[in-house]
Parts: sequence; structure tokens; C-alpha cells
Amino acid sequence: MKRLALLLLLGIPGAVAATSGVDWEMLPFEPNSHDKPSLQRGVRLYTDYCMGCHSLRFQRYERTADDLEIPHEIFTEQIVPSGARIGDLMETAMPARSKNWFGAAPPDLTMVAKVRGTEWLYNYLKTFYLDESRPTGVNNKVFPNVGMPHALFELQGIQREVCTQVSRTADDGGQMRDPLVPQKAITGERCGQLEVVEGTGRYTAVEYDEAVYDIVNFLYYVAEPTRMERYRLGVYVLLFLVVLFVLTSLLGREYAKEFH
Ligand code: HEC
Repeated sequence: MKRLALLLLLGIPGAVAATSGVDWEMLPFEPNSHDKPSLQRGVRLYTDYCMGCHSLRFQRYERTADDLEIPHEIFTEQIVPSGARIGDLMETAMPARSKNWFGAAPPDLTMVAKVRGTEWLYNYLKTFYLDESRPTGVNNKVFPNVGMPHALFELQGIQREVCTQVSRTADDGGQMRDPLVPQKAITGERCGQLEVVEGTGRYTAVEYDEAVYDIVNFLYYVAEPTRMERYRLGVYVLLFLVVLFVLTSLLGREYAKEFH
């Protein structure tokens, strides 16, 4: 029992460090399931770059097309892979033996936004970097030693770790300065930062961020497609309450007249 408690004590902080990124400061992410154009771009990027390995086996193409307001003909032509029909589940054609290729089978991603959180996903897709010691040639800041290759490599380009000079923070929170030459800030080296090797990716940094945003936003929608219905329903419920309020206050006034 004691040993178990000790294991838990030691294990939990370790697990937290592993999921929150050891030396990576998480960039914030705010999903928006009302942004239809973003979701439409997201499903497209997902089918082009992720579906080859990852299923969304609790989601149907048709439902996605309807929720994202993409006409069925366009959706069938541009998104549904050949051989599949719009009524099918969004399953990959990847054979089960792929586990041997990557060391781990690519998991289904329908619920991944709930399990990992959108912020984690966003940082995960942004932090693949060159690491020749890995079989895939890349490593990841928030999922160290991941078995997945950098699927968006042609868009982002090659990212590598660099050390940059950053100014040090003094005890009072300000910039640390040289006591003899006050104009001079004292800098220190900060390593483990990531930098894209110029000219290796098709997208600029901003375009890549947007693409990753759209994919993660799409995964956020997929993890709970009924969220959209809830919002729609919510509007009707509120409208109904407004009408009810007007009617009851009119009725109240009628009753009040009787008393006076
Ligand atoms: C060539 C196949 C392949 C492609 C393409 C691919 N992945 Fe993966 N992915 C994997 C494998 C294999 C793993 C499991 C890695 C491991 O557990 O070490 C994985 C793991 C993941 C995980 C972590 C899941 C978890 O919770 O552990 C996420 C998230 C993910 N992939 C997202 C994506 C997204 C988004 C795309 C498209 C941009 C993508 N993947 C494209 C093979 C692939």
C-alpha cells in the first residue's frame, strides 16, 4: 500500500510534465464552432493529410457535410474518398498491420479533442522538429518520442531546435541590466526554441498557424457534433421564453386591472 502511494506521488507529477510539454510553453487556443469557413477548410485538410492514417469512426460524411453546410455534390466530389459513399462512416483504409510501421497504430481521432484538449492538439501539430535519432526523423515537443511522422511537413517545412538570446528578468520583474553599462541588457541563452528552415515549407508561418487552427477546430467540432444543434436549439428556447414573457406580462396586466 505504502509503495502504491509512493508510486502515485512520484508518478502523477511525471505524467503532468509529460502531457503539458517538458520544455515547451503551451500556446493558447480558442476553438470556435460557429466559424463555418474554418471548419470547411479543416475537414478538407483533415481528409488530405490525416485520414490516410486516422479514422473518425463515430462520424459520417453526410453529417459533416450537413453540419458544415457543404452541398452534398461538392462534398462527395472533393472530400469523400473514391470507393466510399457519403452515407459511410469516416474510416481510414489503413490496414491494421500499420502498427508495425510506426511502433503504434494510429488511433481513432473522433474524441481526441476531448481527451487531449484543443490546446494540446494545436501545440502538438506545431511542434514537430528535426531529430535524426528518431525512426521518423522527427520528434515532438508535447508528445516526446511520438511514433507519428510530421504529416504536415510539406506545408510547414523543416523545423529545428535553436538557441536564442533572450533578456533575463531581474527580481523586480524588469529587464536585468549590466550594473556598469545600464544601457546594456544582460542576456542569456534559451535553448529548445523552434525555427522553420527558410524555404522548406509551402506555407508562411501565419498560413501554417491558420491551417493548424482549422484542423484542430474541426476536431473540436467532431468530438461533439451535437454542440451545434444545442446552440441552434438554445436560440429557439430563448425566443420562446421572450414570447412567453411578453404573453405572461400582458396576462398579468389584465389580472391587475381586475383588482383595481
Ligand atoms: C502516416 C500516418 C499518419 C498520418 C498521416 C497522421 N498520423 Fe497522427 N499518428 C500516427 C501514429 C502512428 C500515431 C501514434 C503515435 C504514438 O502513439 O506514438 C499518431 C498519433 C496522433 C495523435 C496522438 C493521439 C493520442 O492521443 O495519443 C494525434 C492527435 C494525431 N496523430 C493527429 C494527427 C493529425 C491531426 C494528422 C493530420 C494532420 C495526423 N495525425 C496524420 C500516424 C499518422
